[in-house]
Amino acid sequence: MSAPTYYVTTPIYYVNDAPHIGHAYTTLACDVLARFKRLDGFDVKFLTGTDEHGQKVEKSAQAAGTDPQAFTDRVSQNFRDLADFMNFSHDDFIRTTEQRHKISVQDLWKKLLAAGEIYEGSYAGWYATRDEAFYTESELEKKPDGTRIAKASGAEVEWVEEPSFFFKLSAWQDRLLAYYDANPDFILPKTRRNEVISFVKGGLQDLSVSRTTFKWGVPVPDNDDHIMYVWLDALTNYITAVGYPETENGEYATYWPADVHMVGKDILRFHAVYWPAFLMAAGLEAPKRVFAHGWWTNEGQKISKSLGNVIDPIQLVETYGLDQVRYFLLREVPFGNDGDFSHSAMVNRMNGELANDFGNLAQRVLSMVFKNCDKAFPAHGEFTAEDNELLEAVHGLIDDLRASIDLQAFNEALEKIWVVIRAANAYVDHQAPWALRKTDPDRMKTVLYVLSESIRHLAIVAQPFMPQTMEKLLDQLKVSPNHRTFAFLGPEHALEAGVELDKPQGIFPRFVDPEADNA
Ligand code: ME8
Ligand code: MG
Repeated sequence: MSAPTYYVTTPIYYVNDAPHIGHAYTTLACDVLARFKRLDGFDVKFLTGTDEHGQKVEKSAQAAGTDPQAFTDRVSQNFRDLADFMNFSHDDFIRTTEQRHKISVQDLWKKLLAAGEIYEGSYAGWYATRDEAFYTESELEKKPDGTRIAKASGAEVEWVEEPSFFFKLSAWQDRLLAYYDANPDFILPKTRRNEVISFVKGGLQDLSVSRTTFKWGVPVPDNDDHIMYVWLDALTNYITAVGYPETENGEYATYWPADVHMVGKDILRFHAVYWPAFLMAAGLEAPKRVFAHGWWTNEGQKISKSLGNVIDPIQLVETYGLDQVRYFLLREVPFGNDGDFSHSAMVNRMNGELANDFGNLAQRVLSMVFKNCDKAFPAHGEFTAEDNELLEAVHGLIDDLRASIDLQAFNEALEKIWVVIRAANAYVDHQAPWALRKTDPDRMKTVLYVLSESIRHLAIVAQPFMPQTMEKLLDQLKVSPNHRTFAFLGPEHALEAGVELDKPQGIFPRFVDPEADNA
């Protein structure tokens, strides 16, 4: 039997911006899903990349004094560098300026045209270059100086009048509603799903899908005047990367429809309304899920270039450590809600949950094994009720985690891991193995065995969140690198008595305020 498949995607990011914490966050969430599923035996494809066409990128290239291709070549690399720096495990990085993508979008266009889903006309209305989006008058707010901004995003709009092809989106209202109805988990979280449904129920207008007033885009087939609307171009990346237009064989047949498109709430409408409509109109399957996560602010303020408070993920990692940042971002807020980054919240979690709860548990237990058990894992005697209680919690953890991960409930998954960490710490305090050394050394060995096995399980299931640190911990536990998947959870694969340890090393340093040092 072949392994079940799992296809997860990030948005493809506009290259005009320097990568910041928001981009790192979305890709991190996908990285955890991808790593979790790989450890759970799935055949995973994890895609990220950059969105390189459109008016916004063209203008940024002009402002930088370079031609758009040279510009995108340069800035796209920043996103690749960030992905490597954050230890993301993507299998593919797509750029919309690649030939494979041009072929794919043009093919999709031809299918839509042949199906009678695209017609020629002309557009007169509002356009926001910052959002690369068309807006109706009712979606705008008029400012005292006469300019208009989009209520949802705050982006300025300008009046556009040009020949354009249209996609017959208006005809898809009922079929989209039927799709949402038949697939209740297509849009998560639920509150976002309700917003999309009421938007679609409000009626859909045909969508302008080509532009004629600038050149930086994929040409409309057999038409020299039009380039494709950047969102039709961009969304198609998800099928390009699995080999579209080849659909019968290869990766498309294996991975499509995608299991999760992870996006921020700002771009949900494109993914949950336009994208399934394009796909169904071309006779292709819609994705299984679009998850729209929330927005990060910095110490309570909206993150923006003009406020100068953009959080650079590289600086963050240099200050606190990579796995600490990965942990914090997914632990701090229920996934889907907005979150606020603050130094104090970061340090509290780093010192409290990582250094004290998890780090000390590992360090105390391994040190006791090292000192009191001849540097080797002990054999256990008969288990008491307390031993069995902890072991059952530890063995049952993976099923609970699967349930959370399948709903993208990362903070819930981490909380479940921490319930067990706290239980293990309470068990250490209560069993007091250090006192048993003299009074009942065999019982001490059983206690340390139960704890070591608990730590082995915790380290294996925490790998998707904190891969480097858990690798160090599993190395210290002498777990062989090919015994670290979820198939090795459970008592059948327990640590072997007599295996020798190295001197244990702390895995989670505390944050020490550099200012406090000088005081
Ligand atoms: O929209 N908090 O690209 P983009 C959380 N090219 N997430 C944030 C964030 C913040 N403050 N800021 C950005 C585009 N993000 C299109 C996508 S997909 C076919 C095309 C994340 O560079 C979040 O995932 O503007 C958001 O949806 C995405 O970056 C927008 O990236
Ligand atoms: Mg944006």
